[in-house]
Amino acid sequence: MPRRHWSGNLGHAAGAAYCGVYMKVDEGGCEWVAVMVRGYDLETQLCELERNHPELHAVIDPQRLSTWRDELAHRSEMQDDFGPSGRGVEYLQAQELNVNARAVGITQLAQLMLGRPGANPARDRIIVDLLGGNGLVRRVISATLGPRAASVLTCDASPHMVSAAWAQGAPAIIQRAEQSLLRSGSVDGVLLAYGSHHIPVGLRQTVANEAYRVLRPGGIFVLHDFLHGSPAERWFADVAHPYSLTGHDFEHFTYREIKDCIARAGFVTSSVMDLDDSYTVTGATADEARRNMGQYLVKMYGLVRVERELGTDAAYYWAADQARQIFRYADDGVTAKASRLCYDDRERTWYLTIPRRAVVGIGWK
Ligand SMILES: C[S@@+](CC[C@H](N)C(=O)[O-])C[C@H]1O[C@@H](n2cnc3c(N)ncnc32)[C@H](O)[C@@H]1O
Repeated sequence: MPRRHWSGNLGHAAGAAYCGVYMKVDEGGCEWVAVMVRGYDLETQLCELERNHPELHAVIDPQRLSTWRDELAHRSEMQDDFGPSGRGVEYLQAQELNVNARAVGITQLAQLMLGRPGANPARDRIIVDLLGGNGLVRRVISATLGPRAASVLTCDASPHMVSAAWAQGAPAIIQRAEQSLLRSGSVDGVLLAYGSHHIPVGLRQTVANEAYRVLRPGGIFVLHDFLHGSPAERWFADVAHPYSLTGHDFEHFTYREIKDCIARAGFVTSSVMDLDDSYTVTGATADEARRNMGQYLVKMYGLVRVERELGTDAAYYWAADQARQIFRYADDGVTAKASRLCYDDRERTWYLTIPRRAVVGIGWK
């Protein structure tokens, strides 16, 4: 058996989905062994979890795993909006360029699930991010609440995203939100966020039921989306849908649907609330902040058709201006009413914030 000496993330250096380096020691001496973790390679994901994140490996249910293995082996190529032929490459670029663009919302979700920074940190709490992408939520949790705030298992249906998560050092597994691989009563928090509207309406109750099943008593389920009829929905309908390669024709949640979903799953205590989920992007000048915001939005939503029509720079300014017009709210204290551009003297940086309001349903088991 190779003996583990050290493991770490060389993802970008290696230019591939990469996770660990191990020193194999035997009578002949020692050699370094690199382990690649690809998004479609469930077996290597499991091995890496067992080696480096045993607490996460322990929550995986062998029986559910065996059914999923069969399905993965026999499934034909799936439509994957977040794959390289969809908007996956640009989506990841957007996150890398602006890791903190959505930190306001993500931090609040983390605080809901884990408590405020410094509040009773428990090393062994396990959080499952069902629509985890490349592990951005884990990264923001680690930066804001500390790396030991929780063990986060990043899950995603897109192999491209799971590869990218491992390349970032985020333990991840290929899994569909509606078909959890986890043991009953095994985790402390389940997050369904930043893409809940991608779950088909007919499967949403299954996702909530599964969240309830895998939570320990006292565990928390957080369901985040953008309301039907909200400015965010208008953004998707008027900008993301017509101007992206993949389109964006998904039904957003209503308050009622969130409440009912959580109650029907069996959660005894629940609440639904609004959340400030604004975008913030910086620049050395006001103009650069506007351009960077546009770039973030064009890449995040894969607005390739605008780029083709207007050229790259004009597309960025167009996207930023569209967002500034669409994301406007009543003055009720949840978010700013409209976009804000301001200069921070100490940091010598311009900040452009575009308000965005999300809705969050919470269920406690
Ligand atoms: C908008 S991205 C969010 C990624 C990440 N949480 C973030 O905030 O950057 C939505 C993610 O949900 C994944 N997804 C969509 N439907 C899914 C499903 N049924 N099960 C698991 N993942 C799914 C997509 O592959 C995509 O990576």
